[in-house]
Amino acid sequence: MNNFEFKNPTKIIFGKDSIEKLANEIPENAKILLLYGGGSIMENGIYDQVKTALADATVIEFGGIPANPEYSVLMEALEVIKTESITFLLAVGGGSVIDGTKFLSAAAMYGGASPWNILTDNIKIEEGLPFGTVLTLPATASEMNSGAVITRAETKEKLAMGGPGLFPQFSILDPQVITSIPERQLANGITDAFTHVLEQYMTYPVGGLLQDRFAESILQTLIEVAPKVIKDPTDYEAASNFMWSCTMALNGLIQQGVPGDWAIHMMGHELTALFGIDHARTLAIMTPSHYKYNFEAKKEKLAQYAERVWKITEGSKDDKAYAAIEKTEAFFHELGIETKLSNYTDDYEGTAETIKQRFTDRGWLGIGEHKSLSPDKVEKIVKMAY
Ligand code: NZQ
Ligand code: ZN
Repeated sequence: MNNFEFKNPTKIIFGKDSIEKLANEIPENAKILLLYGGGSIMENGIYDQVKTALADATVIEFGGIPANPEYSVLMEALEVIKTESITFLLAVGGGSVIDGTKFLSAAAMYGGASPWNILTDNIKIEEGLPFGTVLTLPATASEMNSGAVITRAETKEKLAMGGPGLFPQFSILDPQVITSIPERQLANGITDAFTHVLEQYMTYPVGGLLQDRFAESILQTLIEVAPKVIKDPTDYEAASNFMWSCTMALNGLIQQGVPGDWAIHMMGHELTALFGIDHARTLAIMTPSHYKYNFEAKKEKLAQYAERVWKITEGSKDDKAYAAIEKTEAFFHELGIETKLSNYTDDYEGTAETIKQRFTDRGWLGIGEHKSLSPDKVEKIVKMAY
């Protein structure tokens, strides 16, 4: 096992009707900016629950943060933070609203020329404006990590940021919120969380026995609850396990002491930036070809995953490893998620070359757990996903 240092300061308040507890977590005399997305919280009652809980607090609102949080919209919110002298941010939404809030937390304290530089210059955020979250969509684990991904339509870019100053102070997780989530977004959430685990697991063995079993148990739980959640989002037991699995998939725990890959996400983010494909779907597109291309490097873990998660007992190590890739793809298909780029756009020719060029320009010359995937190799993997 590799050496590690681990600190996750986010307080989780989990369970039925937990939004009622919101007021206990807000700092005294805070001037709050409540941030939300396209308005789903108005229809499903979450907005009312939040407003009731905050009845005695000073709250200003900013709505309209779109999926794949857009820089230009966030710059409007930044203006509100400055003119209203906001002291606390409250994100009520899914990964997009929470990520947008993290960007604002950082941008509010940033002294540089343009807040976009936080992303392009990869500035590690040590301190941000304090914020909390009320999660409405299990998927990203943004509610318990310190990363964010921000989109800029003008330049068709989608870039990541983060730092120890960007953990939420608290996150409220009431699994009942999933009852209003459309099936497509539920499938996205399952797929995103599943791939988060794979990115931290499907590398090479380093003797992280506990981390491997943590990862496998999250994958097994997601496989078990996925059909139940899709069939009946009011099934509280399934909903609560789904929600907690998503958080545990990327709150830092399973990545300690083991290598990480993240190439699927790096390539996937480009597909969202170029075509607007839902984040989770870009991962489903990239996963099979990434694992096939890197088969030799990953086959020990692929075979272990085959045996322990998919219970594949027949055949050689190579057979099992290959069958596991097929099982993974079939799982995405069962969720109604297509796994080829051409299923989403007719305009895919040239995509691999564009991504290769972008990675080259950004100096991303070796990605993946061995830092060995050059832009040339990335081009080949993306082409395999057409
Ligand atoms: O905007 P509203 O009206 O709220 O509707 C949203 C949105 O249309 C809707 N929704 C959310 N909760 C709902 C609901 N509809 C009904 N009932 C509810 N309870 O769902 C749609 C998608 O929401 P979004 O927040 O975009 O989804 P998700 O949580 O999947 O977040 C995706 C974003 O997170 C980034 C992705 O790149 C993408 O931009 N990621 C963030 C990560 C992180 N911070 O650690 C890691 C991930 O890998 C990912 O990259
Ligand atoms: Zn993801």
